[in-house]
Amino acid sequence: MTERLEQPTIEKEDVLFKNYGTHRLSMVRGDGVWLYDDKGSRYLDFTAGIAVCSLGHAHPAVTEAIVRQAQTLIHCSNLYGVPAQLRVAKKLTEESGLGRVLFCNSGAEANEGALKLARRYGTRIRADKTKLISLPGAFHGRTFGALSVTPKPAYQAGFLPLLPDCASPPSLADVLQEIDARTAACIVEVIQGEGGVHPIPVSFLRDLQAKLREHQALLIVDEVQTGIGRTGEMFAFLQASLQPDILTLAKGLGNGVPVGAIVARQEVADVFDAGSHGTTFGGNPLAMAVVEAVLEVVSEPAFLKHVRELGEVLRAALEERFTNVTGRGLMWGFDVPIDAKEFVRLAEENGCLLTAVGPTRVRAVPPLILDKQHVDEFARCMDSILALPQVTVPARRQ
Ligand SMILES: Cc1ncc(COP(=O)(O)O)c(C=O)c1O
Repeated sequence: MTERLEQPTIEKEDVLFKNYGTHRLSMVRGDGVWLYDDKGSRYLDFTAGIAVCSLGHAHPAVTEAIVRQAQTLIHCSNLYGVPAQLRVAKKLTEESGLGRVLFCNSGAEANEGALKLARRYGTRIRADKTKLISLPGAFHGRTFGALSVTPKPAYQAGFLPLLPDCASPPSLADVLQEIDARTAACIVEVIQGEGGVHPIPVSFLRDLQAKLREHQALLIVDEVQTGIGRTGEMFAFLQASLQPDILTLAKGLGNGVPVGAIVARQEVADVFDAGSHGTTFGGNPLAMAVVEAVLEVVSEPAFLKHVRELGEVLRAALEERFTNVTGRGLMWGFDVPIDAKEFVRLAEENGCLLTAVGPTRVRAVPPLILDKQHVDEFARCMDSILALPQVTVPARRQ
């Protein structure tokens, strides 16, 4: 037997950028709704890799698709046709009512492509139809274009100047005012995820759609976080009866395998002609095999019904314990009585993973395969935290 040499410990600070801050936990294995760290501790995962692993960890259909495709063909680039792209695109167009699909690799890249598409479409109507509008509290990604429509000073600091001709008015009423003949598009999330899980009022979304149409401007619906079943429908825009011109997807599409998509009305999609946009990896056979497997599971009516039902069970558990509970399906935000980051730390200590999305705001986006038992387990964990002396706020003591 060969002697195993002791490997020197590699410190994160010595090899990685500092942008993700300090990690308290390092994950090495996942199984369904559970994640396991390198010390062998188990956590109920209410982050799902930031609303990505909708079918949970190590889902057999996803694993089987990866193994099968890895043994066949992982990548060949868009120099060649990828037959599975056609099947996935057909499914996405059927589900969305939109006409054409372009695959990419992430949410930011999908939005980047959507913004380019909107400008190209707009400038064919008139040369100065270039203005891109976003909503207060929006999050669309970290690349330059996506960041230009993400009006968060902390994210933009040090990266100025961003894209010219982007407007992020301070209120929803101001957004409607901003739309004019020069507007190429407005980009919206039906429920703002990173902004704190805030649903945008449906009446506003309908007014927005009408005003954009009046000015031949496009509605881009960013469903990078809400799409693929997260809110209990395949897409959240269906619940608001919207008709997007462009829809962007990523996260839940690949259950953890990086993939994104731009879905658009045919007339809009057609302004990208041969050579006008592209990506090396987008829509490669490995990603497509996984997306096909994911869509087969998620598009089952019984699966989406399960998301809606469990969503109501989780909502009830949250409303019993917290204030300002907002969201839909299995995407919820709630206010906590202490600093959100500290609350998340305490949740980790008690075996449950959550994310902080505001100073006192926390988000729960568990895998969609969650069952009632897991919600009970989550509720027990929350009760343990709420019983801690440092968490008990004066109002609760009375
Ligand atoms: C609504 C929305 N759009 C875009 C993005 C960016 O996606 P990615 O991190 O894959 O670039 C996110 C990520 O959280 C998101 O929630």
